[in-house]
Amino acid sequence: MAQPSPAHQIRKPRRVKARFIAPLALVLIFIMGVFAAAILKVEADIRDQDISERTAAVGNLFVQKLDKDANLMIATMRALMTNRAIEHAFLDRDRIALSRQLDPLFASLRDKHQITHLYFTDPDLVNLYRFHSPGEFGDKIDRLTTIKSRDQQDAVHGLELGALGTLTLRLVMPWQSDGRVIGYLEIGEEIEHLISEVQKSLSVDMLVLVDKRMVSLQQWRNGQALMKREGNWNRFSSHVALAQTVDRLPAALDETTLRSLFDGHTEEIKDQGRSLHLSTVPLKDVSQRRIGDLVVIRDITELETTFQWSIISVTAISLLAAVGVLGVFYLALDRVEHDYRRQHDLEHQLLRYNAEYGRILQLEKLSALGTMVGSIAHQLNNPLVGVINLAQLAERGVDDPIRTRELLGDIRSAGEDCRAFVKHMLEFSKVSCFESKPTSIAELIEDTVLLFRQTEDHHLPVEVKLPDKPVMMTIDPILVRHALFNLLVNAAQATTDGSAIVITLEPEDDPTRGISGWSLAVNDHGRGMTPEVMEKIFVPFYTTHSDGTGLGLPVVQHVALLHDGQVNVDSQPGHGTRIAIWLPESSSDSTPDVQPDVSKNY
Ligand SMILES: Nc1ncnc2c1ncn2[C@@H]1O[C@H](COP(=O)(O)OP(=O)(O)O)[C@@H](O)[C@H]1O
Ligand SMILES: [Mg+2]
Repeated sequence: MAQPSPAHQIRKPRRVKARFIAPLALVLIFIMGVFAAAILKVEADIRDQDISERTAAVGNLFVQKLDKDANLMIATMRALMTNRAIEHAFLDRDRIALSRQLDPLFASLRDKHQITHLYFTDPDLVNLYRFHSPGEFGDKIDRLTTIKSRDQQDAVHGLELGALGTLTLRLVMPWQSDGRVIGYLEIGEEIEHLISEVQKSLSVDMLVLVDKRMVSLQQWRNGQALMKREGNWNRFSSHVALAQTVDRLPAALDETTLRSLFDGHTEEIKDQGRSLHLSTVPLKDVSQRRIGDLVVIRDITELETTFQWSIISVTAISLLAAVGVLGVFYLALDRVEHDYRRQHDLEHQLLRYNAEYGRILQLEKLSALGTMVGSIAHQLNNPLVGVINLAQLAERGVDDPIRTRELLGDIRSAGEDCRAFVKHMLEFSKVSCFESKPTSIAELIEDTVLLFRQTEDHHLPVEVKLPDKPVMMTIDPILVRHALFNLLVNAAQATTDGSAIVITLEPEDDPTRGISGWSLAVNDHGRGMTPEVMEKIFVPFYTTHSDGTGLGLPVVQHVALLHDGQVNVDSQPGHGTRIAIWLPESSSDSTPDVQPDVSKNY
């Protein structure tokens, strides 16, 4: 069964932006929706609260005005009652004298204080004089205010519907002189005046609706004629408008709206492009009967427009903020996604490279094995061919013992070559036995150079450059000495002009792993290597010498690797070579009491 390739094992990169932006946008839309709903609710609450506060204010102000105007009327009456001439005229039932005495005062009260009625009535409630309608007199006054005032013998005031179909604030007060009642004074003002004053103070319109059971059609018509108004009796089934501060009633104010208002609710209607908020205050007459309702009309068009604009601007600002937040997130996520994709691609590439590297390694191993087998075969083949040829020669010349002995000597020498080669191979395989201990590198170099001296024929000068401080390293001294020896032999083989070989020990960092260590290098000024040769020098049995084994540098590399180090090669054809064994610092130690051996020549 075929294994899935590493490329297939990698998941597709996730779409980070798509995963985050959509839910974030949804959350923002939800928050904005809740925000807008909350604002709308708050606005509706504020408006409702405002209208109910205003309605309560209208109710209070209306009652206060009634009381204030009643007090003014009482003061006016008391002033009248102190006037002897008027008292005499009243007692004498002298209408002409009354008219003469009081006409100017009434005119002034009417013009300046909107007083519309002034009555002088007998103790038996028969009217003596009406200043607002002097032609009418002699009728019995049976209105509630008058009767209550007579019964209580005190000033009585309140709203009352009159025969003329108007709603009037009336004040009736008994006139007592020398301990007896000489008659009653009545003074009144129309509700129109009261509501227009409230309108000015509170900026609301008002409509006085009276229950049709309290006023007859005829009465109402009289009132409309008096106020020079043309109302519609049939507009509402149960109520009729008696006074109002608006020119015409809103068309949308219908029966249903009215019923809801009377039930204590507030209503919002549209009239000619304007928004009106309505509520009601019950109207009670002097005997506390509910005679109708005062409809409070508040124009909230401006308020609504302002609110709409504030909603629009708040929404626009929050939209902008949301878009900004989304934008910032988008950019950030874009970067994250970009990095993520790059990392993903790198991971992908790495896996591919790993797979390829594995294959190449396999190929290289096979080709190294091929080279190795070829070299071994070659190395063994030459002496063996010699052995066979010499043996054949010996067979032929068996009669000549001297010649045969010579040939047998050659055969032994070829056999010894083979044994030497096999011995080298066995040495190579022994390198993997590894025993480390703290070692002075200076001493190690010195021993190796002495050994090299004994084996090397050309007596090339060897120069050693050591650091000031003696260096101790925990290494396998036999292996490192062997490696250094190999390097010295190679350098000597490459040197043809008798120039010196230089051994250097210096601190050096491994830039790829970031660890410090020491570099033990052998420099020569010999023939150097071509790039093609350099590529193969670590392949076992690769050699350019006819008598070489091709195992020197592979052993050096193996020793370096056993110490967690590496071999660095620098070479230029015709100029020389530098081959350095780099060993990590962790295996080094310093002993200051040993005196430095800075430089030595052998
Ligand atoms: N210092 C050097 N200068 C030039 N060539 C070198 C040097 N060291 C090694 N070489 C090349 O590397 C080859 C492999 O070296 P090595 O593994 O020691 O095997 P051998 O010495 O038996 O040939 C040598 O044959 C030679 O061509
Ligand atoms: Mg060698």
